[in-house]
Amino acid sequence: MRALILVGGYGTRLRPLTLTKPKPLVEFCNKPMVLHQIEALAQVGVTHVILAVSYLSDMLQREMEVEAKRLNIKISLSQETEPLGTAGPLALARDHLQGDNDPFFVLNSDVICEFPFEDMIKFHKNHHAEGTICVTKVDEPSKYGVVVYEQTTGRIERFVEKPREYVSNKINAGLYIFNSTILDRIELRPTSIEKEIFPAMATEKQLYAFELKGFWMDVGQPKDYLTGIGLYLNHVRHSQPERLSRDSGIVGNVLLDPTAKIGERCRIGPNVVVGPRVIIQDGVCLKNCTILADSLVKSHTWIANCIIGWRCTIGQWVRMENTTVLGLDVSVQDELFINGGVILPHKAITESVTEPKILI
Ligand code: GDD
Ligand code: MG
Repeated sequence: MRALILVGGYGTRLRPLTLTKPKPLVEFCNKPMVLHQIEALAQVGVTHVILAVSYLSDMLQREMEVEAKRLNIKISLSQETEPLGTAGPLALARDHLQGDNDPFFVLNSDVICEFPFEDMIKFHKNHHAEGTICVTKVDEPSKYGVVVYEQTTGRIERFVEKPREYVSNKINAGLYIFNSTILDRIELRPTSIEKEIFPAMATEKQLYAFELKGFWMDVGQPKDYLTGIGLYLNHVRHSQPERLSRDSGIVGNVLLDPTAKIGERCRIGPNVVVGPRVIIQDGVCLKNCTILADSLVKSHTWIANCIIGWRCTIGQWVRMENTTVLGLDVSVQDELFINGGVILPHKAITESVTEPKILI
């Protein structure tokens, strides 16, 4: 089988991380985001993954060559000259997708879940219609595509992208399987699959909903990325508990890269991910945050609900909270208070930030 992943644009909502690394390569729980998906696809026998990108990235190309070899699959980059939305990229990759007339997967690149691809295939083959989309339940459906379907069969009656008024709390989880006939509906121009293609398929009774079990999160924005860490680690706790740390000073679910060094009398967790070669000095407290590769957190610092980028240096007695996101190579002087905001790569912070803001 084949799969197309909608990788898209510059990942502006994950700035400053995406200023120095393409979004699919930004690590989520110590693994590049897109690899969570590619590995799960390879596991169910997908042999060719097409990444639909609207920009050129040498870094992405190089990394994907390495991964293709490692997983023994083919990975192609399908590059748009203008952003083609969420359906147009399928038309651009038509030759790749049509190949053997088999159904293929299409995924949004920023979603994290248990990826039940095997069960999706079975469900799809059973209903004989053109498309299957995964749905999940959320408390706040307005920022998603909302789906109304027949409970017994899963047949979708309505699909409304980002509704202004309440329609349902079942939403599009951004994982699909389509028969290749869907390509006849899509022209090579910027097109939204959610606004133009799904409503038409629903009207023609060609779209079915597969209910996801377990956790799901769109991790394309810092707040949701942090929530996603908690959900993902909770899943790891149940499926592969040996991956989580059991050292002293660890509270709840914590994922430590084996090359990270943690000092004495620290309190790490819950919901913390520490990347390769990170050094955490003595007496540090970390909660609900991720520290990306090669960063240093000096002693007695307190960090909660933050994403610390690569190669950062955080001084002693710093307090950082409120969804602060640091880009590559940021330094924060001793004793500062950072209360939210976005700090761009290579910045040296010498004064407290008492209200969330963007620091260039
Ligand atoms: N190649 C390409 N070109 N990809 C694109 C483009 C484009 O022009 N525009 C968006 N994408 C990719 C994004 O990178 C992302 O992986 C995916 O398409 C969805 O776009 P988002 O911008 O993240 O959309 P969203 O999160 O607001 O809504 C979508 O996802 C929700 C689930 O997280 C919709 O599919 C909703 O219906 C859905 O509920
Ligand atoms: Mg998204």
